[in-house]
This record gives sequence, structure tokens and C-alpha cells, in this order.
Amino acid sequence: MSVEIFGKVNQIIEEIKTASPKAKEEIEQFRIKYLGSKNVLKPLMGEIRNIANEQKKDYGQLVNQAKQVAEAKFQQLKDALESAAEDASAHNIDLTAPGEPIELGSRHPNSIVMNRIIEIFQRMGFAVAEEREIEDDWHNFTAMNTPEDHPARDMQDTYYLKDSTEMLLRTHTSSVQARVMTTTQPPIRIIAPGRVYRNETISARAHCQFHQVEGLYIDEGVSFADLKQTLLHFSKEMYGPNTRIRLRPSYFPFTEPSAEMDISCFVCDSKGCNICKYTGWVEILGCGMVDPQVLENCGIDSKKYSGYAFGMGIERQAILKYKINDIRLLFENDVRFLKQFSSTL
Ligand code: DAH
Repeated sequence: MSVEIFGKVNQIIEEIKTASPKAKEEIEQFRIKYLGSKNVLKPLMGEIRNIANEQKKDYGQLVNQAKQVAEAKFQQLKDALESAAEDASAHNIDLTAPGEPIELGSRHPNSIVMNRIIEIFQRMGFAVAEEREIEDDWHNFTAMNTPEDHPARDMQDTYYLKDSTEMLLRTHTSSVQARVMTTTQPPIRIIAPGRVYRNETISARAHCQFHQVEGLYIDEGVSFADLKQTLLHFSKEMYGPNTRIRLRPSYFPFTEPSAEMDISCFVCDSKGCNICKYTGWVEILGCGMVDPQVLENCGIDSKKYSGYAFGMGIERQAILKYKINDIRLLFENDVRFLKQFSSTL
């Protein structure tokens, strides 16, 4: 009998030691069970009557030890709980507060316009070519038929890297034409989206950084008619099926002939409004047949191959599409401005 009862107390001591209540209510349950007025040790203490006299002292001490272990454990549990609460309040965390909803972001108008343009040309079989923004003089200018003393260099004020006359921030995505043509033989059919830089005074209408999408198609027998049809299809997809285009003769050093393309005003349907400055037309891009000299510069046989190219500004189209009156808004990244635009066009 006495061996058994000693064993029982020892078992309870083990139970107390290994108990691990954490929450406040669990710790209270622990207290009630081992230290409360009807705790499990009390009846065991009563059992001392049935213990042989010479063992009474040991038994009494064992039960007392159980009580002390329970008291120490309870204190330890309470301390742990309090310090966790202190920690939380020290960091000002209200563990009972409901979580804050995560706000969904939205796409930048530039990205929306850019993605739409890419999508349209990809469906026509154009691959996307992305290239470096820090470019050398040859790819940005010389290969594109704009040698050192060419007056067309003044058309684009250039940021050169510090102490360099060779490395610059590309002034147009036309540099990607040279990158692709020097490494790939025709057929070539790419669009090149990306950021470009020009030393311009920043105003509501101009910025020193903006984005362009370049297009390039080189193969045997590519004609101006191909260019015109491709651009008409693009314009209808981008600005609506009733959109008309017109090409005005222009000048770019890398194309011959060169043109600027207008679309019929999608705001007033060419009736005249302040978007089209009451002309009914809005200028969208520059284009032309790739100058044979550019093909030769880049190692492509101009007797065998011909091609067209075009380049368009992204900010300009975003501003027109969304009727934004200041280009600088596109570079401020104020979420209150940005979240107005839904993600697709
Ligand atoms: N690179 C020209 C610019 O920055 C745009 C351009 C015009 C690109 C005609 C072309 C093109 O490929 O054929 O203004």
C-alpha cells in the first residue's frame, strides 16, 4: 500500500513538472488542480493516516515537496505570461486587434499603355527585345546614321556619363535597332520598349526621362505598304476600330523616306477639341523605311534586305488616353494619383 501511494505522489510531481499551460485560462486550471481548495494533493495528504509510523515523516515531506513544486511552477507560468504581455505592450501590439486589410496596388498608366502596345504587336508576330539604357555613342548615334558632326544630334540633347564622350544614357530606343541588327540576321521582327533620357527642361509637357517603344521589321521585300498597314492595324486596335491614320513626310537620319503618323482624334472623332488642338488629328509616332546605310552599318546586306522602323512615346499616349494635364504626375508615384487607373486598356 505505502509503496503505491508514494508512487502516486511521485507521479503527480512528474505531471506538475511537465505541465505546460500557456494561456491565462489554462494556467488557472493548473492552479485549481494543484493548489486550489480542492486540489489533488489534499486527499493524498489525508492518506497519511494509513501510512506506517516510520514512513509518515517521509510521506509528509513528499507531499509537501509536491506542493512546493506546484507553487514554483505556478509562479513561473504566471511570470512567463506577464512578461509576454509586457513585451506586447512595450511594442504597442494589441494582440486582440483585427488585422489591417492589405491594399491592392494598381498598374502605372505607363505600364498599362506599354503592355497594351506590346500585346498588339506580339499578336502580329513581333518579339520583345529589351536592351541597355547606358549605351555607347556608336549604337545610339553613329550606327543610326548620325555621325559626330551631323546636325540631327542637336535634335536630342544627350546626357553623357561623367568624363566620357563615348558612354551615354540612350536618347531613343532606336539604339536597340543597332543592337539587334549587329547580332541577328533577317528576318527580324522586334519591338523594343524602354526608358530613354534627354537633357530637357522639365515642364508640364516635357521630362528628362520618358519611355518609348521602337519597332523594327527587316526581311526580303518589305515595303512602305507593309509599314502603313501594320500601323493602321495597331492604331485601330489601340484607339478603336474607326480610327484613321495619316502619314506626313518628315525627317529622321535613320529612315528614308521618313514620316510622322497622326491618328484621327479619338476624343472628338476629328470634329475638333482641345486634345487635337482643333485639327482633328493627333501625332503618335515617327516611322519610315530603314535607310540602307543603317543596314550596312550593322552588317546587313541592303541589296537583299529592306525594312521599316517606327518609334513612339509612351507618356504622350498615356497623357492622351487618360487626359492627364501634366507629364510630371507620371514620375511622382503618388498612389492617390496612380490608383485611379484600372489595370487594362
Ligand atoms: N527615334 C525617334 C525619336 O526618338 C523616333 C523614331 C522615328 C524611331 C522614326 C524610328 C523611326 O524607328 O523610324 O524621336
